[in-house]
Amino acid sequence: MTAATTAVTVRAPAKINLSLRVGPPRPDGYHTLATVFHAVHLDDLVTATAVDGAAVTVEIADEHGDPVAGVPADESNLAVRAALRLREVAGLPTAGVHLALRKSIPVAGGMAGGSADAAAALVACAELWETGSTRHQLASLAAVLGADVPFALLGGCAVGTGRGEHLQPLSVGPPALHWVVAWSDTGLSTPAVFGVLDRLRAERPVPPPQIDPRLVTALERGLVGAVGMLVDNDLEEAALDLRPALATTLAAGRRAGARAGLVSGSGPTLAFLVDAHSAARVARAVAREPGVAGVRHVTGPAPGAARVA
Ligand code: C5P
Repeated sequence: MTAATTAVTVRAPAKINLSLRVGPPRPDGYHTLATVFHAVHLDDLVTATAVDGAAVTVEIADEHGDPVAGVPADESNLAVRAALRLREVAGLPTAGVHLALRKSIPVAGGMAGGSADAAAALVACAELWETGSTRHQLASLAAVLGADVPFALLGGCAVGTGRGEHLQPLSVGPPALHWVVAWSDTGLSTPAVFGVLDRLRAERPVPPPQIDPRLVTALERGLVGAVGMLVDNDLEEAALDLRPALATTLAAGRRAGARAGLVSGSGPTLAFLVDAHSAARVARAVAREPGVAGVRHVTGPAPGAARVA
């Protein structure tokens, strides 16, 4: 007989939206999207440890073990909500767990770090509690938690529709895509960015969102040059309206040799598509810009949430 598992560690990736097309607002406050999600090798880790009693608790630190500002340590934390939701549907209302988050993904940065934590918590708790949940069942739970959580489970590259939760995986050809990501010293609120977009487009007709099929073909064939010409983000205009300095940083990265630069999701993190040999130059140039808190060279696609220990 094997001893019961007492701790499970799961990693989950950040995402960049290679294209983000936003439709008009819906009555539920969300917007219909058409997006191409791309997971990158920038992971948060979640360790779920069994505890006596029914409490679900969370602690948050960065990759060096230092405190992280801006992430709630109560039941509003998306990883805690994921654990609570899983134990409810699994019929384990008294299962307690402590979640230790090790965050590398920028907070409130438009790279879906909170969603990655929720996806990792789902996988970790499912293993810890031996719920026997299928990936499909976890994906259904994920969709209730947030629009980006299902993709953090899936990883790779996928077209997302609906609120972003309906996913169609893409098989992306080599080579890997190289990115320099640059995060800001202060986050942007996703609802605020969507709100500004609605205001900016109030007088314009907003067509139903659609992904340019040429981007899908370029990704499948590994045509990096074409990918660079076809990436776009409808939220960029709104993020730049809220944070005009981002435009200067985008220009600095492009001048330093990036093939493309775009706001990641609702921002303020910026993602620059680079060639491997120009990554260091772009990273140096962007890191010098005011308001840039950190830069990192990452590649994608990366796999979805998976157990590492
Ligand atoms: O699903 P999630 O909690 O990540 O979304 C955060 C907020 O972003 C929503 O409350 C909504 O204001 C906005 N949003 C949206 N349309 C989407 C996804 C998010 O308007 N498809």
